[in-house]
Amino acid sequence: MDTTATLSGNVDIPADIAATLVDPAAYADHRIHDSYRWLRANNPLGIARPEKFDPFWVVTKHAHIQSVSRQNELFHNADRPTTLMTRAVEERVRKITGGPNLVRSLVQMDAPDHPKYRALTQGWFMPANLGKFEARVREIARATVQRMLDKGNACDFVADVALGYPLHVIMEILGVPEKDEPRMLKLTQELFGPQDPDTARIREALTAEQFSAMMQSVVNDFGAYFRGITEDRRRNPREDLATVIANAKIGGDYMPDHDATSYYMIVATAGHDTTSSSTAGALWALAEDPAQFERVKANPDLIPGLVDEAIRWMTPVKHFMRSATSGTELGGRKIAKGDWLMLCYASGNRDEDVFEEPYRFRCDRKPNRHVAFGYGAHLCLGQYLAKLEMKILFEELLPRLKSVALDGEVKMTQAYFVNGPKKLPIRFEVN
Ligand code: HEM
Repeated sequence: MDTTATLSGNVDIPADIAATLVDPAAYADHRIHDSYRWLRANNPLGIARPEKFDPFWVVTKHAHIQSVSRQNELFHNADRPTTLMTRAVEERVRKITGGPNLVRSLVQMDAPDHPKYRALTQGWFMPANLGKFEARVREIARATVQRMLDKGNACDFVADVALGYPLHVIMEILGVPEKDEPRMLKLTQELFGPQDPDTARIREALTAEQFSAMMQSVVNDFGAYFRGITEDRRRNPREDLATVIANAKIGGDYMPDHDATSYYMIVATAGHDTTSSSTAGALWALAEDPAQFERVKANPDLIPGLVDEAIRWMTPVKHFMRSATSGTELGGRKIAKGDWLMLCYASGNRDEDVFEEPYRFRCDRKPNRHVAFGYGAHLCLGQYLAKLEMKILFEELLPRLKSVALDGEVKMTQAYFVNGPKKLPIRFEVN
């Protein structure tokens, strides 16, 4: 791949900064934000050449992230890996699937397939349809809050609230029975957090071969599980999303098995880990700022702002990758055909040119033009669901709490794709 750029200025970013971008631990201890800040100020669109990875452009400014995300013909999702992976892992994936990605869900598709596949479920995820589920989501939220309060005056908010709640909601909407939720949770954690020592199936440092074998086994588990669901929903259609996916036809035929599995997987996985992290992020911020807690509690109209700010604050999806389909210029840089680009959403969401006081959590931030859900044709399909779930949870939780404070160290997952709090010990008083 030719990533030589012929411009003024230093195109390569310093090796120590490049190393943090591919270091899962840097995302857990927040060093990544120091790197992003340095990059936005000194080299907002530079090339990283970390060991073991193909070089890639690091897109750190909000405007550039939007510009790349908007030009879907010029910047493809599917031609190269859609998330960052080492050269060796990519080679293994190519051997297994013949392509750069293990699955083929919406995020690994480009036009003309992408809009056709997206249209199959888009209506389901729109606010007008989601209204049908609101009462049920509120029941789930209320039960979750009650379980938390029953613990007394302390809990781990991640384990006791944030993990289970969105999982339960998405499984209901999808149509997966409650008894299978622990299995789904484990599979998601293995898929999204394979770098984290607490969730990886193989805990020591993995060789590329072991890594892809592990990922393949996770994908196979998902496949086997959802094949059963597909067969059932074709025989016995119901009102759930699984019925929509199982019976969806592309060009007159059912989706190929691999595509259907990928579809279930993205809905099942993208739908809860990200929402869990944002939910935990909101409570973390309130626990650290009693005045803001009091304000939101006294004024529930601030809850939608709290939700949006928590999503900006955590930005659980740290990046997606794109690749250039032809040579182009961006931000004064010459991008060559085939170049790989990392869209650093968490950096865009701290961009000083867009956000006043970007390092402060402000539930009254207006407007809040964060890019945590991405931008353009691939903009998160589940954004309204995620926001609805979070809003309802805080509407149910805040009136019940008199105070909340941290009760120990917050721990984050180590991962450079999706990460967020994995342990959030809190103390609370009940009204
Ligand atoms: C895509 C973030 C919740 C389903 C995405 C993308 C991001 C994202 C960054 C890629 C957008 C792009 O490339 O421009 C988040 C965050 C969430 C969240 C931060 C929670 C706070 C959900 C939920 C669901 C969901 C609840 C569904 C149940 C999807 C799907 C896509 C997607 C299906 C692929 C869309 C496409 O490629 O056309 N999400 N997501 N997400 N998300 Fe979410």
